[in-house]
Amino acid sequence: MDLFENINHPADAAHKTDLEKKHYPTVEAPGSVKSWEPFDVTVTVGKELAHPNEGGHFIQWVELFYNDVLICRTELTPTIYEMPVRMRLKIGQSCTLKARTRCNLHGIWEGSVDLNVE
Ligand SMILES: [Fe+2]
Repeated sequence: MDLFENINHPADAAHKTDLEKKHYPTVEAPGSVKSWEPFDVTVTVGKELAHPNEGGHFIQWVELFYNDVLICRTELTPTIYEMPVRMRLKIGQSCTLKARTRCNLHGIWEGSVDLNVE
């Protein structure tokens, strides 16, 4: 499998490889929020197994989508920026929050969480 020809996901979420643990973005948000009230979301790459953060190997950017609509993009500078990426949102309807991230050596990875809006 060529990591640069796909949007990558762990093949088996219960049994991730070390490569998957280092690259899969974990999206964390409250299980339930009130309509249009601000809440915090974090995206962490390498939550289970730290991803390198050095000049030759690093996470280049993190994007967050409301369903399939891009709502935030953060560019990261290696060695200076540390995970997680934090964002404050306010949303009116239940949705899937999806993160996409790119490693300069291992391509684009995706993770998501469902958000319930009351
Ligand atoms: Fe990587």
